[in-house]
Amino acid sequence: MRTLIVSCSPKRRLSASGLLACVQRLSVRGTVRRLALRRRGDLPAVLEHLCQADAVILSMPLYVDGVPSHVLEFLREAETFCKENDLHPRLYCIANNGFIEGRQSEPLMRTLENFCARSGLDWCGGVGVGGGVMLNVNAVLMCLKLALLPVSLLLNRLLPDGSTPLDVLADTAINLLVLLALCSTILFFLVRQGRAVSAGADAGTHYTRVLIPSFIFIPMANVFFVIVSLFQGGLFRGWLAPKEIGQPNPEA
Ligand SMILES: Cc1cc2nc3c(=O)[nH]c(=O)nc-3n(C[C@H](O)[C@H](O)[C@H](O)COP(=O)(O)O)c2cc1C
Repeated sequence: MRTLIVSCSPKRRLSASGLLACVQRLSVRGTVRRLALRRRGDLPAVLEHLCQADAVILSMPLYVDGVPSHVLEFLREAETFCKENDLHPRLYCIANNGFIEGRQSEPLMRTLENFCARSGLDWCGGVGVGGGVMLNVNAVLMCLKLALLPVSLLLNRLLPDGSTPLDVLADTAINLLVLLALCSTILFFLVRQGRAVSAGADAGTHYTRVLIPSFIFIPMANVFFVIVSLFQGGLFRGWLAPKEIGQPNPEA
């Protein structure tokens, strides 16, 4: 079983699509190749690997209720390429969107289903994930927690009234478990899809989200984006920094 996992976010680093692709990779057996489709220049490499793939998983963000434009361009080229080379891989998708409801990705899933019907590929379903930015923040917080663990242990040794190392470890473990619990249904559906990919089966389409109630998520998101806008998008350098612009499409 040869699987091609393509991360389709234009972001160079710290994209939710990249993160979800990494997690998906852990539950897919067989030969797995991971590629990035960030811009037009990446198209040839992805098409080349399409030839050898039994299954393809596209992990992408939702843009304006649909497929990002550089992915649409890829789909157009892939349609011709698959027809010319008589390729019929199974196609799966992981979509993530900024709003909290994963179901926002439904039109994107339909687009991919229609693409498969037209191109002769086998549509096998996908996972729509709501709260993509929050997912990224969660992942960053988990890494920070782990990275700061030695510092916390050291500080607690130096401070006379500091808590015991066991307290610090327990505190970190609880924090990590809470963050993990917020993503538990996403992990569940990704593992389920990974098993279906490995078995060559249909995974069905499922929508899930970061497990934060909307009435908490909305004010938190508002505050987050006000702060980000105050820093003109440069709060997390390389993450929210301006993206590389691809070559203009002469046909556009
Ligand atoms: C141009 C643009 C359009 C977007 N449109 C939507 C949208 O229609 N609905 C939504 O829920 N999120 C939308 N988002 C938010 C992204 O889907 C969200 O930030 C996602 O987590 C980005 O994924 P990535 O980190 O993999 O690039 C949009 C973001 C951008 C930059």
